[in-house]
Amino acid sequence: LKIYLKMINTSTSDSKTSLNRKTPPTIIIIFGASGDLTARKLAPAIFNLSKDNLLPKKCFLIGYGRSAMSDDSFKNEIKEALKAHSRRKIEASTWNNLEKNLIFHAGAYDDLNSFVTLENKITKIEKQIDCKVQCLFYVSTPPGVFMPILENLGESGLAKRHRGTETASKVIIEKPFGRDLQSAHELNQVINRRFDESQVFRIDHYLGKETVQSLLVQRFANSIFEPVWNRNYVSSVQITVSEDIGVGNRGGYYDKSGALRDMIQNHVMQLLALTAMEPPSSLDPESIRDEKVKALKALKPLALEGESPEVVRASYAAGLVGGSPTKAYIDEEGIPQDSSTETYAAMRLYLDNWRWKGVPFYLRSGKRLAMKASEIVVQFTRPPAILFGQDSRLKVSPNLLVIRIQPNEGVTLYLNSKTPGLETKLQPIKLAFGYETTFGSDTPEAYERLILDALNGDGTLFIRGDEAEMSWGLLSPVLDYWSSQGRQGLESYASGTWGPLAADKLLLGSGHEWITGRNYD
Ligand code: NDP
Ligand code: BG6
Repeated sequence: LKIYLKMINTSTSDSKTSLNRKTPPTIIIIFGASGDLTARKLAPAIFNLSKDNLLPKKCFLIGYGRSAMSDDSFKNEIKEALKAHSRRKIEASTWNNLEKNLIFHAGAYDDLNSFVTLENKITKIEKQIDCKVQCLFYVSTPPGVFMPILENLGESGLAKRHRGTETASKVIIEKPFGRDLQSAHELNQVINRRFDESQVFRIDHYLGKETVQSLLVQRFANSIFEPVWNRNYVSSVQITVSEDIGVGNRGGYYDKSGALRDMIQNHVMQLLALTAMEPPSSLDPESIRDEKVKALKALKPLALEGESPEVVRASYAAGLVGGSPTKAYIDEEGIPQDSSTETYAAMRLYLDNWRWKGVPFYLRSGKRLAMKASEIVVQFTRPPAILFGQDSRLKVSPNLLVIRIQPNEGVTLYLNSKTPGLETKLQPIKLAFGYETTFGSDTPEAYERLILDALNGDGTLFIRGDEAEMSWGLLSPVLDYWSSQGRQGLESYASGTWGPLAADKLLLGSGHEWITGRNYD
C-alpha cells in the first residue's frame, strides 16, 4: 500500500526504478501451477509485472504439480494462458525474457522428497546466477493440501531459507483460509510453527482491487467524511457483492463451500473491516491490521432463530440471466439434488463499539443475481423535517455515499437539490467520480498489486492470522446452525433476481431498503 501511495505521488518511471532496486533476485514457486487460478490470474499478473519492469531482473518461475511435464510443455501452457487471459497483449520481448526462466518441477504435495529435490533445483539456480535468491512460494492448490505443503516447506528447510535476511522465503496462501474457526486455527498453528508471521501472506484478492485500496484514502485523506462517519450521522451501511454467474465448473469445490465461506467470510468481511475500523496510527501493515481486528472483534454474535433472525441463506432456482434461461443450482454439474449449500447469504450485523453502536451493517453476497456489482453504500441520517421533508413535494431523500468497487469503479455522493423552476421541488442528484474517466482504463489487476507487495514483504493488503480467526469466530456458529438444519430454512430465489424475499425482512421496520441495483441507475 505504501508503494501504491508513493506511485501516486511520483512519476511512474521513477517509482518503477526504485521498486526494481528494492526487490532481490527471486524465484516464484507456484504449487498447483496446472490449475485454473494460475492460468487465469497468476500467470497474467506475473507477465504484466514483468512488462512493467516491476519484477527483479533475475526472476524465475517454477511451476509445481503432481504430473510430470517438460519445461517446454509448461512454457506452452503458460503462453496459452497469457493469450487467453492477460489484460495486455503478449509481445516478444517480455515473453522471451520470462520464457527463458520458466521451469517445471513434478512432485506430490505430501512427499518430503519432492520438496528436497525442489530445494536442490533452487540452490542450482543460485549457483548459476551467483547470488542469493528469495523464494516466494504461492500455495494455489485446493485447500485440502495447504497443510502438507506448509509442513513440507518447513520440514525440507525451504521455509527457513535465508531467514533474517532480505532474501528470506515468503509464502502466499490462497483462500479459503480454513472451513471454520477450528480448521483456520489449526492452519495458523502449522504456519506459526514453520514460518515467522512476517513471511506469511494470506491472500484476499479483494484487498488488491484499486477501489478497495482507495477506501483508506477516501476515508482518511479527506476531512469531510471522518466527522460524519459514525452513529450520529450514519443510519446504515450496506455491503453487496453480487455476481450474475453461477457455479460453472467449480461445483465440486463450491458445494463444499457455499456463499458464506466463499465470499462473506473473506471478501465481504474485509470490506466491512475497512469501512468500520478506526483510523490507524500509521500506514504500517500492523497498525492497519490491528484496527481491522478491533472492528471485527466488536461485531455482535448473530441471532440465528427467534422473532427476528439476522441471517438468511438461499439457493438459486432456474431463471433468466441476461435474457438467457439458466439452470437451478441443484441441476448444475456436480451438485447433488439434495444439496443444502447456500448460493446466497445476507445478514444484519451490529458493532458493539462507540462509533457504530446501533447502526445496522447489512451484508449480502450471492451467485446468479441480477448483475455483477460490488458496492459499499453508506446511508446518512435525514435532516430534521423543519424546512424540508414535511410532504412529498419537499421529500428529502437520505444522502448516500456509494463506493463502487466493481464494475464501473468509482464513488458517487447522492445529495438533494432543488429542481429548476419557480416552484420549490426537491430531487436527489449525484456527484459522481469514475476511475476510468479520471485515470483511464489501464488499471493493474488485483493479483499484480498483491504479488508485487508480497515480493517486497509488504503485508498491508493481506490478512493476518488473528483477523481470519476473528471472522470465522463470528461465522462458524452460523455454519454449525445451518448444518444442523439441513435444507430447512434454505430459501430459494429465481436466477437473475436480487435474491430471496426473506432478505428484505432483515431490513423490515428500519426504514432502510436494499439499494444496489434497485433504486437508482
Ligand atoms: P484447481 O482445482 O484448478 O487446482 C489447482 C491444482 O491443484 C490442479 O491443477 C492440480 O494440480 C492440483 N490439485 C487439484 N485437486 C487436487 C487434489 N485433490 N489434491 C491435490 N492436488 C490437487 O484450483 P484453482 O486453480 O481454481 O484454485 C487454486 C486455489 O485458489 C484454491 O485454493 C482456490 O480456492 C483459490 N482461488 C481460486 C479462484 C479461481 O477463480 N480459480 C479464485 C480465488 C481463489 P496437479 O494435478 O498438477 O498437481
Ligand atoms: C472468489 C470466489 O474468491 O471470488 C469466486 O471463490 C468468485 O466464487 C470470485 O466468483 C469473485 O471475484 P471477482 O474479483 O470476480 O469479484
